[in-house]
Amino acid sequence: MASLSIPPLNSSIRSVLFTVILWIGLFCIAEINAGGDVGEFLRKGGNNPREFDYFVLALQWPGTYCRRTRHCCSSNGCCRSTNAPTGFTIHGLWPNYNDGTWPSCCTGKTFDAKEVSTLLSGLNMYWPSLSCGSTSNCHGGKGIFWEHEWEKHGTCASSVTGEEYNYFVTALNVYFKYNVTDVLREAGYVASDSEKYPLGGIVSAIQNAYHSTPELQCSGGALQELHLCFYKDFTPRDCAAGSNTTNGFVNSKKSCPKYISLPEIASLKLGKAETEVSQSTLLSSI
Ligand SMILES: *[C@@H]1O[C@H](CO)[C@@H](O)[C@H](O)[C@H]1NC(C)=O
Ligand SMILES: *[C@@H]1O[C@H](CO)[C@@H](O)[C@H](O)[C@H]1NC(C)=O
Repeated sequence: MASLSIPPLNSSIRSVLFTVILWIGLFCIAEINAGGDVGEFLRKGGNNPREFDYFVLALQWPGTYCRRTRHCCSSNGCCRSTNAPTGFTIHGLWPNYNDGTWPSCCTGKTFDAKEVSTLLSGLNMYWPSLSCGSTSNCHGGKGIFWEHEWEKHGTCASSVTGEEYNYFVTALNVYFKYNVTDVLREAGYVASDSEKYPLGGIVSAIQNAYHSTPELQCSGGALQELHLCFYKDFTPRDCAAGSNTTNGFVNSKKSCPKYISLPEIASLKLGKAETEVSQSTLLSSI
């Protein structure tokens, strides 16, 4: 049975084998670094987000957000004396799961202001921050609103929207195509500080226009957020189908009463000492 024993490798074969194994190892590491998801999977210790199911176009009603502004600053869209928002503005375009949860901070990519420099007028107009606070980024820091939206949500949508610039362009295009402010205006629901509108009427107006059910959130009886949902090809679908949140945030403090208000968007105006600047000015200092 001596013939079964493996003869000792001579040293040159051993060194070739070692080199081959080393190269296989390096190749695997390179693959992990190239596939951002796998790299992130390892960095997060296994918390790798799976591919999302649908998009939420989250819109905010500035009239409701701006009521809580206590002080003004140049980055706050509530504080503009010119180009103040007149209808829904974009909160974000969010990849979601059918169970109502969502992935976040998917690739580890950081927001680069230069990427969106040609989109600034549109972003300032239609996607303004409605507060003075900074928002968290995905790297333990704080940054501007767009940085938060891209890093937290946008990086999880790249299989469909591509990278940063294309993410913002996609969101703007969907927002232009599905003009909820216009749909509600046509149905008689316009900003007012005295009227209250039936929640069911507002939902129906959107169902009739887009054949899909939106999700509404309120604050103090006023509409704060309106979410439109889309399949990954951007055809409309119901929001959070199959979950308990289909008809708005049941049992949540964000749920809307039967009659809701759409407060007028009163511009708060910057003090005389402050100059009117937009986020684009902030961006140049990044
Ligand atoms: C949406 O419609 C409103 C009201 O008709 C209009 O004033 C606004 O400019 C439109 N918004 C966009 C982004 O086209
Ligand atoms: C809805 O909520 C009920 C009660 O909390 C729960 O039993 C049920 O599984 C939920 N349905 C979905 C689809 O999440």
